[in-house]
Amino acid sequence: MKIILGITGGIAAYKAPELIRLFVKTGIEVEVVMTDAATRFVTPLTLQALSGKPVHLSQWEGMMHIDLSRQADAILVAPATADFIAKVANGHADDLLSSLCLARDCPLYLAPAMNRQMWENAATRRNIERIRDDGIHLIGPEEGIQACGETGFGRMTEPDDIASLMMSSLSAKTMLGKRFLITAGPTQEPIDPVRVITNLSSGKMGYEIAAAALQRGAEVVLVSGPTCLSSPYGAKLVSVGTAQQMLEAVMENIEGIDVFVGVAAVSDYHVVNRSGEKLKKQERLLLELEPNPDILKTVSSLENPPFCVGFAAETEKLHENARAKLENKKVQMIVGNLARDALGRDDNEVAIFTKEGVLKLPRASKRDIACQILEEIGKRIS
Ligand code: C5P
Repeated sequence: MKIILGITGGIAAYKAPELIRLFVKTGIEVEVVMTDAATRFVTPLTLQALSGKPVHLSQWEGMMHIDLSRQADAILVAPATADFIAKVANGHADDLLSSLCLARDCPLYLAPAMNRQMWENAATRRNIERIRDDGIHLIGPEEGIQACGETGFGRMTEPDDIASLMMSSLSAKTMLGKRFLITAGPTQEPIDPVRVITNLSSGKMGYEIAAAALQRGAEVVLVSGPTCLSSPYGAKLVSVGTAQQMLEAVMENIEGIDVFVGVAAVSDYHVVNRSGEKLKKQERLLLELEPNPDILKTVSSLENPPFCVGFAAETEKLHENARAKLENKKVQMIVGNLARDALGRDDNEVAIFTKEGVLKLPRASKRDIACQILEEIGKRIS
Protein backbone atom coordinates (compact mmCIF):
# COMPACT_ATOMS: atom_id res chain seq x y z
CA MET A 1 0.00 0.00 0.00
CA LYS A 2 1.24 3.47 -0.78
CA ILE A 3 0.13 6.72 0.83
CA ILE A 4 1.02 10.28 -0.07
CA LEU A 5 1.40 12.23 3.15
CA GLY A 6 0.87 15.93 2.59
CA ILE A 7 2.08 18.24 5.34
CA THR A 8 0.96 21.86 5.56
CA GLY A 9 2.21 24.68 7.76
CA GLY A 10 0.72 24.30 11.22
CA ILE A 11 2.30 23.55 14.58
CA ALA A 12 0.78 20.03 14.50
CA ALA A 13 3.32 19.30 11.72
CA TYR A 14 5.62 18.20 14.54
CA LYS A 15 3.49 15.04 14.75
CA ALA A 16 4.04 14.15 11.08
CA PRO A 17 7.31 12.23 11.69
CA GLU A 18 5.48 9.95 14.14
CA LEU A 19 2.75 9.37 11.59
CA ILE A 20 5.32 8.33 8.98
CA ARG A 21 6.96 5.98 11.48
CA LEU A 22 3.62 4.32 12.22
CA PHE A 23 2.82 3.80 8.52
CA VAL A 24 6.29 2.51 7.66
CA LYS A 25 6.18 0.11 10.62
CA THR A 26 3.06 -1.45 9.11
CA GLY A 27 4.74 -1.85 5.73
CA ILE A 28 2.98 1.09 4.07
CA GLU A 29 5.09 3.10 1.63
CA VAL A 30 4.95 6.82 2.35
CA GLU A 31 5.73 9.54 -0.16
CA VAL A 32 5.95 12.94 1.56
CA VAL A 33 4.86 16.21 -0.03
CA MET A 34 5.32 19.44 1.93
CA THR A 35 4.12 22.96 1.42
CA ASP A 36 6.64 25.72 1.80
CA ALA A 37 5.09 26.75 5.14
CA ALA A 38 5.37 23.17 6.47
CA THR A 39 9.18 23.28 6.07
CA ARG A 40 9.24 26.00 8.73
CA PHE A 41 7.86 23.58 11.32
CA VAL A 42 9.62 20.31 10.46
CA THR A 43 12.60 19.69 8.21
CA PRO A 44 12.38 17.69 4.97
CA LEU A 45 15.53 15.85 6.09
CA THR A 46 13.74 14.34 9.11
CA LEU A 47 10.86 13.19 6.93
CA GLN A 48 13.19 11.84 4.25
CA ALA A 49 15.07 9.82 6.87
CA LEU A 50 11.84 8.32 8.25
CA SER A 51 10.09 7.65 4.93
CA GLY A 52 13.31 6.50 3.22
CA LYS A 53 12.40 8.58 0.15
CA PRO A 54 13.12 12.09 -1.12
CA VAL A 55 10.55 14.64 0.04
CA HIS A 56 8.69 16.55 -2.68
CA LEU A 57 8.56 20.30 -2.26
CA SER A 58 8.25 21.84 -5.68
CA GLN A 59 5.61 21.75 -8.37
CA TRP A 60 8.25 22.46 -10.98
CA GLU A 61 9.53 18.87 -11.24
CA GLY A 62 7.83 17.67 -14.44
CA MET A 63 4.39 16.08 -14.13
CA MET A 64 4.88 15.30 -10.47
CA HIS A 65 1.28 16.22 -9.54
CA ILE A 66 -0.09 13.60 -11.93
CA ASP A 67 2.58 10.90 -11.49
CA LEU A 68 2.51 10.87 -7.70
CA SER A 69 -1.25 10.65 -7.31
CA ARG A 70 -1.54 7.86 -9.91
CA GLN A 71 0.73 5.60 -7.87
CA ALA A 72 -1.00 6.20 -4.53
CA ASP A 73 -3.81 4.33 -2.78
CA ALA A 74 -4.71 7.47 -0.85
CA ILE A 75 -3.61 11.00 -0.09
CA LEU A 76 -3.59 12.08 3.54
CA VAL A 77 -2.96 15.70 4.49
CA ALA A 78 -2.00 15.95 8.16
CA PRO A 79 -2.03 18.55 9.43
CA ALA A 80 -4.41 20.32 7.07
CA THR A 81 -4.49 24.04 7.89
CA ALA A 82 -7.56 26.26 7.49
CA ASP A 83 -5.86 27.83 4.45
CA PHE A 84 -5.19 24.46 2.81
CA ILE A 85 -8.76 23.33 3.46
CA ALA A 86 -9.98 26.54 1.79
CA LYS A 87 -7.80 25.75 -1.22
CA VAL A 88 -9.10 22.20 -1.56
CA ALA A 89 -12.71 23.33 -1.08
CA ASN A 90 -12.30 25.79 -3.94
CA GLY A 91 -10.20 23.67 -6.28
CA HIS A 92 -7.04 25.77 -6.12
CA ALA A 93 -3.83 24.28 -7.50
CA ASP A 94 -1.08 26.80 -6.80
CA ASP A 95 1.49 24.46 -5.24
CA LEU A 96 2.44 20.79 -5.58
CA LEU A 97 0.21 19.50 -2.77
CA SER A 98 -2.96 21.32 -3.82
CA SER A 99 -2.32 20.36 -7.49
CA LEU A 100 -1.95 16.74 -6.40
CA CYS A 101 -5.24 16.87 -4.52
CA LEU A 102 -7.00 18.32 -7.54
CA ALA A 103 -5.44 15.84 -9.99
CA ARG A 104 -5.97 12.77 -7.79
CA ASP A 105 -7.90 9.64 -8.70
CA CYS A 106 -7.70 8.13 -5.19
CA PRO A 107 -9.42 8.95 -1.87
CA LEU A 108 -8.34 12.12 -0.06
CA TYR A 109 -8.22 12.36 3.74
CA LEU A 110 -7.72 15.63 5.61
CA ALA A 111 -6.77 15.86 9.29
CA PRO A 112 -7.54 19.50 10.15
CA ALA A 113 -5.49 21.35 12.76
CA MET A 114 -6.04 24.98 13.63
CA ASN A 115 -7.00 27.42 16.34
CA ARG A 116 -10.55 26.82 17.63
CA GLN A 117 -11.76 30.23 16.43
CA MET A 118 -10.46 29.50 12.94
CA TRP A 119 -12.25 26.14 13.01
CA GLU A 120 -15.52 27.80 14.08
CA ASN A 121 -15.25 30.66 11.60
CA ALA A 122 -18.14 30.78 9.12
CA ALA A 123 -15.72 30.59 6.18
CA THR A 124 -14.13 27.37 7.50
CA ARG A 125 -17.56 25.89 8.24
CA ARG A 126 -18.56 26.58 4.63
CA ASN A 127 -15.36 25.02 3.32
CA ILE A 128 -15.78 21.93 5.50
CA GLU A 129 -19.33 21.44 4.29
CA ARG A 130 -18.17 21.68 0.69
CA ILE A 131 -15.34 19.25 1.32
CA ARG A 132 -17.77 16.73 2.83
CA ASP A 133 -20.11 17.13 -0.15
CA ASP A 134 -17.15 16.45 -2.46
CA GLY A 135 -16.62 13.06 -0.79
CA ILE A 136 -13.37 14.04 0.92
CA HIS A 137 -12.80 12.24 4.24
CA LEU A 138 -12.22 14.30 7.37
CA ILE A 139 -10.32 12.87 10.33
CA GLY A 140 -10.95 14.97 13.46
CA PRO A 141 -10.20 17.55 14.65
CA GLU A 142 -10.36 16.80 18.37
CA GLU A 143 -11.23 18.97 21.33
CA GLY A 144 -8.55 19.92 23.82
CA ILE A 145 -5.78 22.32 24.75
CA GLN A 146 -4.21 24.03 21.75
CA ALA A 147 -0.68 25.23 21.07
CA CYS A 148 -1.91 28.84 21.49
CA GLY A 149 -3.11 28.03 25.02
CA GLU A 150 -6.83 28.13 24.17
CA THR A 151 -9.13 25.14 24.59
CA GLY A 152 -11.62 23.90 22.00
CA PHE A 153 -12.00 22.05 18.72
CA GLY A 154 -9.05 22.20 16.35
CA ARG A 155 -6.41 19.82 17.73
CA MET A 156 -5.16 17.38 15.15
CA THR A 157 -6.23 13.78 15.84
CA GLU A 158 -3.34 11.80 17.39
CA PRO A 159 -1.07 10.02 14.85
CA ASP A 160 -1.96 6.61 16.30
CA ASP A 161 -5.65 7.17 15.64
CA ILE A 162 -5.08 8.68 12.18
CA ALA A 163 -2.93 5.69 11.20
CA SER A 164 -5.43 3.08 12.40
CA LEU A 165 -8.34 4.92 10.81
CA MET A 166 -6.53 5.11 7.47
CA MET A 167 -5.60 1.44 7.64
CA SER A 168 -9.17 0.48 8.49
CA SER A 169 -10.46 2.54 5.68
CA LEU A 170 -8.03 1.15 3.09
CA SER A 171 -8.05 -2.54 4.13
CA ALA A 172 -10.29 -5.06 2.41
CA LYS A 173 -13.44 -5.45 4.52
CA THR A 174 -13.26 -9.21 4.89
CA MET A 175 -14.91 -9.16 8.33
CA LEU A 176 -17.74 -6.77 7.55
CA GLY A 177 -20.77 -7.54 9.72
CA LYS A 178 -18.80 -9.86 12.03
CA ARG A 179 -18.86 -9.13 15.75
CA PHE A 180 -15.75 -9.80 17.83
CA LEU A 181 -15.43 -9.93 21.60
CA ILE A 182 -11.81 -9.83 22.72
CA THR A 183 -10.31 -10.01 26.20
CA ALA A 184 -6.88 -8.46 26.71
CA GLY A 185 -4.31 -7.46 29.30
CA PRO A 186 -3.85 -8.86 32.79
CA THR A 187 -6.44 -9.06 35.55
CA GLN A 188 -5.71 -7.82 39.06
CA GLU A 189 -6.88 -9.66 42.17
CA PRO A 190 -6.80 -7.48 45.29
CA ILE A 191 -4.91 -8.63 48.40
CA ASP A 192 -5.78 -5.41 50.21
CA PRO A 193 -6.78 -1.92 48.97
CA VAL A 194 -3.26 -1.22 47.58
CA ARG A 195 -1.87 -4.62 46.60
CA VAL A 196 -2.84 -7.07 43.89
CA ILE A 197 -1.94 -10.43 42.40
CA THR A 198 -1.52 -10.10 38.68
CA ASN A 199 0.11 -11.61 35.60
CA LEU A 200 2.79 -10.04 33.43
CA SER A 201 0.94 -8.89 30.34
CA SER A 202 1.18 -5.64 28.38
CA GLY A 203 -2.09 -6.20 26.51
CA LYS A 204 -0.35 -5.49 23.17
CA MET A 205 -1.36 -8.74 21.45
CA GLY A 206 -5.05 -8.39 22.32
CA TYR A 207 -5.15 -4.72 21.28
CA GLU A 208 -3.48 -5.56 17.95
CA ILE A 209 -6.07 -8.27 17.29
CA ALA A 210 -8.82 -5.77 18.08
CA ALA A 211 -7.24 -3.24 15.67
CA ALA A 212 -6.83 -5.87 12.92
CA ALA A 213 -10.48 -6.93 13.24
CA LEU A 214 -11.65 -3.31 13.12
CA GLN A 215 -9.54 -2.70 10.02
CA ARG A 216 -11.36 -5.56 8.30
CA GLY A 217 -14.73 -4.03 9.05
CA ALA A 218 -15.65 -6.05 12.16
CA GLU A 219 -17.41 -4.61 15.20
CA VAL A 220 -15.22 -5.04 18.27
CA VAL A 221 -15.90 -5.12 21.99
CA LEU A 222 -12.59 -5.09 23.86
CA VAL A 223 -12.80 -6.19 27.50
CA SER A 224 -9.49 -5.17 28.96
CA GLY A 225 -7.68 -5.42 32.24
CA PRO A 226 -5.37 -2.55 33.25
CA THR A 227 -2.86 -1.64 30.50
CA CYS A 228 -0.98 1.47 29.37
CA LEU A 229 -2.41 1.21 25.85
CA SER A 230 -4.98 3.40 24.18
CA SER A 231 -8.04 1.65 22.86
CA PRO A 232 -8.00 1.02 19.08
CA TYR A 233 -10.08 3.60 17.22
CA GLY A 234 -13.66 2.35 16.87
CA ALA A 235 -13.56 -0.40 19.52
CA LYS A 236 -16.05 -0.47 22.38
CA LEU A 237 -13.71 -0.62 25.36
CA VAL A 238 -14.90 -2.14 28.64
CA SER A 239 -12.27 -1.71 31.36
CA VAL A 240 -12.19 -4.24 34.18
CA GLY A 241 -9.95 -5.18 37.11
CA THR A 242 -10.60 -8.69 38.39
CA ALA A 243 -11.24 -11.95 36.55
CA GLN A 244 -14.79 -11.97 37.96
CA GLN A 245 -15.40 -8.50 36.51
CA MET A 246 -13.92 -9.65 33.20
CA LEU A 247 -16.28 -12.63 33.13
CA GLU A 248 -19.28 -10.39 33.91
CA ALA A 249 -18.30 -7.89 31.18
CA VAL A 250 -17.87 -10.74 28.68
CA MET A 251 -21.25 -12.27 29.52
CA GLU A 252 -22.95 -8.86 29.29
CA ASN A 253 -21.61 -8.43 25.75
CA ILE A 254 -21.68 -11.99 24.40
CA GLU A 255 -25.09 -11.78 22.71
CA GLY A 256 -24.72 -11.86 18.91
CA ILE A 257 -20.93 -12.32 18.99
CA ASP A 258 -19.44 -14.32 16.08
CA VAL A 259 -15.86 -14.62 17.32
CA PHE A 260 -14.54 -14.68 20.88
CA VAL A 261 -10.79 -14.24 21.31
CA GLY A 262 -9.47 -14.75 24.83
CA VAL A 263 -6.09 -13.06 24.83
CA ALA A 264 -6.22 -11.85 28.44
CA ALA A 265 -3.74 -13.26 30.91
CA VAL A 266 -6.42 -14.01 33.47
CA SER A 267 -5.21 -14.51 37.01
CA ASP A 268 -5.85 -18.15 37.94
CA TYR A 269 -6.75 -17.35 41.55
CA HIS A 270 -8.30 -14.65 43.68
CA VAL A 271 -7.62 -13.98 47.35
CA VAL A 272 -10.35 -15.25 49.66
CA ASN A 273 -9.03 -13.64 52.85
CA ARG A 274 -8.60 -10.23 51.19
CA SER A 275 -8.16 -7.42 53.71
CA GLY A 276 -10.37 -4.34 53.77
CA GLU A 277 -7.48 -2.32 55.21
CA LYS A 278 -3.86 -2.04 54.09
CA LEU A 279 -1.99 -4.96 55.61
CA LYS A 280 0.88 -4.14 57.92
CA LYS A 281 4.22 -5.87 57.46
CA GLN A 282 4.24 -9.17 59.29
CA GLU A 283 6.60 -12.08 59.83
CA ARG A 284 4.63 -14.38 57.58
CA LEU A 285 1.52 -13.71 55.55
CA LEU A 286 -0.78 -16.48 54.43
CA LEU A 287 -3.05 -15.82 51.51
CA GLU A 288 -5.89 -18.19 50.81
CA LEU A 289 -6.44 -18.50 47.07
CA GLU A 290 -9.46 -19.84 45.25
CA PRO A 291 -9.57 -20.56 41.50
CA ASN A 292 -11.09 -17.94 39.22
CA PRO A 293 -13.75 -18.83 36.67
CA ASP A 294 -12.37 -19.87 33.29
CA ILE A 295 -13.82 -17.19 30.99
CA LEU A 296 -12.87 -18.88 27.74
CA LYS A 297 -14.34 -22.19 28.81
CA THR A 298 -17.52 -20.49 30.03
CA VAL A 299 -17.97 -18.94 26.58
CA SER A 300 -17.07 -22.08 24.63
CA SER A 301 -19.56 -24.06 26.75
CA LEU A 302 -22.52 -21.82 25.91
CA GLU A 303 -25.40 -23.45 24.09
CA ASN A 304 -24.61 -21.58 20.85
CA PRO A 305 -20.97 -20.65 21.29
CA PRO A 306 -19.19 -18.23 18.97
CA PHE A 307 -16.01 -19.29 17.14
CA CYS A 308 -13.59 -19.42 20.09
CA VAL A 309 -9.88 -18.64 20.04
CA GLY A 310 -7.66 -19.10 23.07
CA PHE A 311 -4.04 -18.29 23.80
CA ALA A 312 -1.49 -20.51 25.44
CA ALA A 313 1.57 -18.82 26.86
CA GLU A 314 3.83 -21.65 27.95
CA THR A 315 7.35 -21.88 29.27
CA GLU A 316 7.84 -25.48 28.09
CA LYS A 317 6.21 -28.23 26.00
CA LEU A 318 4.34 -25.69 23.90
CA HIS A 319 2.89 -28.17 21.40
CA GLU A 320 1.70 -30.63 24.02
CA ASN A 321 0.13 -27.95 26.23
CA ALA A 322 -1.48 -26.08 23.34
CA ARG A 323 -3.01 -29.28 21.95
CA ALA A 324 -4.36 -30.16 25.40
CA LYS A 325 -5.93 -26.69 25.68
CA LEU A 326 -7.62 -27.08 22.31
CA GLU A 327 -9.36 -30.16 23.71
CA ASN A 328 -9.98 -29.10 27.32
CA LYS A 329 -11.28 -25.66 26.52
CA LYS A 330 -13.39 -26.87 23.59
CA VAL A 331 -12.12 -24.08 21.32
CA GLN A 332 -11.56 -24.00 17.57
CA MET A 333 -8.14 -22.40 17.73
CA ILE A 334 -5.26 -21.97 20.18
CA VAL A 335 -2.48 -19.50 19.53
CA GLY A 336 0.55 -20.77 21.35
CA ASN A 337 3.77 -18.99 22.22
CA LEU A 338 6.70 -19.43 24.53
CA ALA A 339 5.96 -16.84 27.22
CA ARG A 340 9.54 -15.81 27.83
CA ASP A 341 9.86 -14.74 24.17
CA ALA A 342 6.79 -12.56 24.12
CA LEU A 343 6.13 -10.69 27.35
CA GLY A 344 5.98 -6.93 26.91
CA ARG A 345 7.74 -7.08 23.53
CA ASP A 346 6.46 -5.71 20.23
CA ASP A 347 7.21 -8.94 18.41
CA ASN A 348 6.43 -12.57 19.05
CA GLU A 349 6.75 -16.06 17.60
CA VAL A 350 3.56 -18.11 17.63
CA ALA A 351 2.04 -21.29 16.28
CA ILE A 352 -1.65 -21.61 15.49
CA PHE A 353 -3.18 -24.90 16.61
CA THR A 354 -6.47 -26.14 15.18
CA LYS A 355 -7.95 -29.61 14.91
CA GLU A 356 -6.54 -29.79 11.35
CA GLY A 357 -2.97 -29.26 12.50
CA VAL A 358 -0.45 -26.61 13.44
CA LEU A 359 0.67 -23.55 11.51
CA LYS A 360 4.00 -22.20 12.71
CA LEU A 361 4.48 -18.50 11.98
CA PRO A 362 7.91 -16.88 11.76
CA ARG A 363 8.89 -14.27 14.36
CA ALA A 364 7.06 -11.07 13.47
CA SER A 365 5.58 -7.92 14.99
CA LYS A 366 2.47 -8.44 17.09
CA ARG A 367 0.64 -6.35 14.47
CA ASP A 368 1.62 -8.77 11.68
CA ILE A 369 0.80 -11.76 13.85
CA ALA A 370 -2.62 -10.28 14.59
CA CYS A 371 -3.22 -9.99 10.81
CA GLN A 372 -2.28 -13.63 10.26
CA ILE A 373 -4.48 -14.81 13.11
CA LEU A 374 -7.35 -12.82 11.55
CA GLU A 375 -6.66 -14.48 8.18
CA GLU A 376 -6.87 -17.92 9.79
CA ILE A 377 -10.06 -17.04 11.66
CA GLY A 378 -11.51 -15.60 8.43
CA LYS A 379 -10.93 -18.87 6.54
CA ARG A 380 -12.94 -20.73 9.16
CA ILE A 381 -15.92 -18.45 9.73
CA SER A 382 -16.70 -17.33 6.20
O1 C5P B 1 -5.66 -22.12 31.23
P1 C5P B 1 -4.77 -21.08 30.67
O2 C5P B 1 -4.72 -19.82 31.49
O3 C5P B 1 -3.40 -21.52 30.33
O4 C5P B 1 -5.46 -20.73 29.27
C1 C5P B 1 -5.16 -19.62 28.54
C2 C5P B 1 -6.34 -19.20 27.71
O5 C5P B 1 -7.55 -19.25 28.47
C3 C5P B 1 -6.25 -17.77 27.26
O6 C5P B 1 -6.94 -17.66 26.05
C4 C5P B 1 -6.95 -17.03 28.38
O7 C5P B 1 -7.42 -15.75 27.94
C5 C5P B 1 -8.06 -17.96 28.75
N1 C5P B 1 -8.44 -17.93 30.17
C6 C5P B 1 -9.67 -17.46 30.54
N2 C5P B 1 -10.03 -17.47 31.87
C7 C5P B 1 -9.19 -17.95 32.80
C8 C5P B 1 -7.95 -18.44 32.43
C9 C5P B 1 -7.59 -18.41 31.11
O8 C5P B 1 -10.43 -17.01 29.69
N3 C5P B 1 -9.57 -17.95 34.08
